[in-house]
Amino acid sequence: MGFFENMGNPQGKLGNIQLKSMNKEHTPVSLWGLKHLDISPDDIILDVGCGGGMNINRMAQTAKKVYGVDYSIESVNLSREVNEDLIVQGRVEVLEGNVQSLPFEDNTFDIVTAFETVYFWPDIEKSFGEVKRVLKPGGMFLIGCETNGAGFFMRLCEGLMNMTAYTDVDLCQFLENNDYKYIKAYLRDGKSKKETIKYEGKEITIDDDYDHFSFSDRFVQWMTVTAIK
Ligand SMILES: C[S@@+](CC[C@H](N)C(=O)[O-])C[C@H]1O[C@@H](n2cnc3c(N)ncnc32)[C@H](O)[C@@H]1O
Repeated sequence: MGFFENMGNPQGKLGNIQLKSMNKEHTPVSLWGLKHLDISPDDIILDVGCGGGMNINRMAQTAKKVYGVDYSIESVNLSREVNEDLIVQGRVEVLEGNVQSLPFEDNTFDIVTAFETVYFWPDIEKSFGEVKRVLKPGGMFLIGCETNGAGFFMRLCEGLMNMTAYTDVDLCQFLENNDYKYIKAYLRDGKSKKETIKYEGKEITIDDDYDHFSFSDRFVQWMTVTAIK
């Protein structure tokens, strides 16, 4: 696998290097996404497409238990390494698996997260249905993306990485088609320091109090979408 293919399915030594870099480079957008999640100490969470495992680690600081799943063995291995102590304590578990057929019983999780990964999911609408299957009734699905749709730069990435940069409208529609409820989109414009919240056909814009330095927020809109089963 080459550099670009590795973004959607990290393999080998280069994949491991890229995953370590993503653990660092995705920190600003991931922490912003996590601001929209209210984790309780009783929560059982699943992070799909967990990559290098940093978000598992972050969420496991509060949750009862966090599971990670990824179809790349390189991602599974690094997630296990990064969360070694939490795995020994029984608070983290990382499994190899595809979002198309998650290795969990129905109604298992309070929260399912997907950071920087839905771009690569096959048959995304069906995949959202599979996420819903493993969520408990009332559980939350959170999707984090470092772009809202594809501008010039992302269109280039789409071709090179075999990915799709969905818009908030696309993602909300896929969720609606799966009968998720209370679907909300949070869109962050780092240049003007504003966050727009879209919910039930209404839109409000608030000042953005997020001050992590990031390169990407100068030219793309960050997006977090949440929905309830
Ligand atoms: C760009 S990386 C993001 C990793 C991590 N979530 C982050 O924010 O740094 C995408 C990850 O999603 C995983 N992935 C892509 N498609 C997947 C699928 N169908 N099932 C499970 N994992 C998938 C890839 O293997 C990779 O580890």
